Parts: sequence; structure tokens; C-alpha cells
Amino acid sequence: MSERTLVLIKPDGVRRGLIGDVIARVERKGLKVVAMDLRTLDVETAKAHYAEHSEKPFFGELVDFITSGPLVALVLEGPRAVEAFRALAGATDPVKSAPGTIRGDHALEIGENIVHGSDSPESAAREVKIFFPDRF
Ligand code: CMP
Repeated sequence: MSERTLVLIKPDGVRRGLIGDVIARVERKGLKVVAMDLRTLDVETAKAHYAEHSEKPFFGELVDFITSGPLVALVLEGPRAVEAFRALAGATDPVKSAPGTIRGDHALEIGENIVHGSDSPESAAREVKIFFPDRF
């Protein structure tokens, strides 16, 4: 059964010229890009997207970072797309993510870890609605 997930190539990924690398991995895996947009998030949208982290000590830092420059928002579709993309991305902490994954190959810091992927189909549905309200 096909599923959707919301992926962000975060401002560090865009700044470092990794848009093509991330999309190439996604396509090589067989996940389909069904929506894509380059934009700079406003603070309100960033807070809505990361609402579940609002009580965390790093929330302010997270919002500052995700609004610090253009990002690429993508909707991917495929069988178990949520899990499939999280496997491509690697562990949240890039020091612990395996080489061969996006974070394992490109990142060292937890706050600047190149990509975001929804953590469940329920989160995906919520996040897709935030980024592409009229599309799905
Ligand atoms: P992401 O998948 O976008 O979802 C929440 C983000 O919070 C996560 O990736 C990390 O980039 C970030 N994050 C998690 N833990 C920390 C931390 N201790 N300090 C700063 N950022 C963090």
C-alpha cells in the first residue's frame, strides 16, 4: 500500500548544495516525488511544524535554524514511505547515523542534520497539510 511522507531539505542542506544529492537518493530508492517547493519558512509555520517540540530546551534554536534560509519541502510517495525515507536519512544524531545515509555521509551536528522526515503516517498527514494545504 502506498503512503506519503513530508521531507524537508533544511537550510543547511540547501546552503551546502545538497538538494540534488538528497533527491537522487530518494529517486534511486524508488520513492516518487509528488510535490516540491523551495521556500523560506516564516516563524509561525516553523512553530506549527515543530509544535511537538515546543517545550524542548532547543525549540528556539530549532525555529531560528529552520527559518534561516530557503529549504526544499517535498512530498514523497511509495510503499512505507515514512520508514523508507527515515532509513535513507539515518539517525537524527548524525554522529550515530550510519555511513551511507544522508546524515551519516554529510552531517556532524544534531541541529544541522540536512533533512527532516515525518516520523509516522499521522505526522506525515499533519505536516503535508502545513506545507501543501491545497494539494492533497
Ligand atoms: P527533525 O527530524 O527535523 O525533528 C526535530 C529536530 O530537532 C531534529 O530533526 C533535530 O534537528 C533537532 N534536534 C533534536 N535534538 C536536538 C538538540 N538536542 N539540539 C538541537 N536540535 C535538536
